[in-house]
Amino acid sequence: MKWIYINEMKNHVGQEVTLKGWVANRRDSKGLAFVTLRDGMGFCQCVVAEEAVGDTFEQTKSLSQESAVSITGIVVKDEKQLGGFELQANAFEIIDVAEDYPITPKEHGVDFLLERRHLWLRSKRQWAIMKVRNATIYAIHSFFQNRDFALMDSPIFTGSAAEGTTDLFKTDYFGQEAYLAQTGQLYGEAMAMAHGKIYTFGPTFRAEKSKTRRHLTEFWMIEPEMAFFDLEMDMDLIEDMLRFVVNEVIDRCQAELEILDRDIEALKSVNQKFPRITYDEAIDILTGKKDVNGINAIAMLEEDLAQTKAAIEDAKKEIEEREIIVNDNVSKKGIKNFNRNKVAQLKASLKDLEEDERNIPQWIESAKNFEHGGDLGGSDETVLTRLFGCPIMVYNWPRKIKAFYMKRVEGNLDYVKGVDVLAPEGYGEIVGGSERETDLDFLLEQIAEENLSREDYEWYLDLRRFGSVPHAGFGLGLERLITWICKLKHIREAIPFPRTSQRLKP
Ligand code: 4AD
Ligand code: MG
Repeated sequence: MKWIYINEMKNHVGQEVTLKGWVANRRDSKGLAFVTLRDGMGFCQCVVAEEAVGDTFEQTKSLSQESAVSITGIVVKDEKQLGGFELQANAFEIIDVAEDYPITPKEHGVDFLLERRHLWLRSKRQWAIMKVRNATIYAIHSFFQNRDFALMDSPIFTGSAAEGTTDLFKTDYFGQEAYLAQTGQLYGEAMAMAHGKIYTFGPTFRAEKSKTRRHLTEFWMIEPEMAFFDLEMDMDLIEDMLRFVVNEVIDRCQAELEILDRDIEALKSVNQKFPRITYDEAIDILTGKKDVNGINAIAMLEEDLAQTKAAIEDAKKEIEEREIIVNDNVSKKGIKNFNRNKVAQLKASLKDLEEDERNIPQWIESAKNFEHGGDLGGSDETVLTRLFGCPIMVYNWPRKIKAFYMKRVEGNLDYVKGVDVLAPEGYGEIVGGSERETDLDFLLEQIAEENLSREDYEWYLDLRRFGSVPHAGFGLGLERLITWICKLKHIREAIPFPRTSQRLKP
């Protein structure tokens, strides 16, 4: 029998084929079993009729959730179905009957799910996110390969820091202290001097103790580095890349983005020109000194707070009303279940709203009292990006808060030519980049100022001794981008097995 994958059904309408997969769901009615099969490529409803399969029909009762099964039948077009096709079974073979599966269609807490991440990955939403991740990675490679960038790998074991020493993971390297790479950039610069345009794509490690929605301790970073590029060209490249990648994902992941209930219009904002604002302008906007398109940051936050409070009242009222139905003696079981699920959903969103209610006043304080010269915090980024409907670029940063290798701004030596790209809808930084300092003496000063060992950086300084040229690059955080594309609440769902300060297993 011809075994095909669910995404190939469109080529086999009217034919008999075999699907192999797992039972995502089963519903029974008289003489019929409706099995939602998933095979990694998609989901498909298989209708098993007693009339068609005869005596074996009884066995459908043992097809518990996540049982493995192979089903043979005729492919029928059915627009109403997810994926657009249905399989009308003639025969099926049980491969493994699953024990009671812990992840049921009802709502589960996130800790419960994270502890079962190895199984949670099978759930439809998680499956869709990983498909988007795959398409994102593919699009990133296409973008750079089509522009003749060479993919080159930087080492994971390193002997020196580049992004400050506070979040390094130390390991013992045969008695010598080594660190897990927190960036591949310094190596990228060396490779760019050999190949002109390169990009790295690899795991990156940061011992971030803070518990945030944006930080992993292990994440994937894409770091292009280009000889003869200045900051302006760097920003142009970032903008082109994000535009290409997001449009590719919109094109290739329509079904997945639909499963995720993602508003595509928000993603299409990448087709607008990204506003480029200096750090100084960003601070004026944040502190309310300067409006954006007639909107004042502080006024917007105050309005948000009022709306949040109103939404909390509405949610509480609705929960009360639905709970009455859940607990009465007259409503049908189906109606009670429907309301029970709604209550669970409402309680989850109420929790988020209450978190906002606590956070927004702090954001207002933080924004109002922001001290010029400081780094933007997560909430500051949220506030800024909510004022714009598309990604923005913040450039020319105070030297003190940026890495040692960034080039100073001519005529304004307290500033460096760095850029952060902030994603809209409150997502914040997804890319950090800069033009690199080429002045050997200045780099030596910086290395001394940061108490780094000069000896460890001699190889890097050689790049300024032998054919030193202007160059620039950036780092794109893969999971940060995916978190925004999928509009996830937390970055931990953007990677198969997340590593955070709270979690090492599974
Ligand atoms: O801004 P960062 O620290 O820049 C660098 O590492 C430079 N060496 C890049 C370069 O110019 N080649 O990190 C770059 C990006 C951030 O914008 C963010 O998207 C992501 O990496 N990132 C993280 N993602 C998840 N968890 C973390 N803890 C992250 N830290 C940074
Ligand atoms: Mg950064």
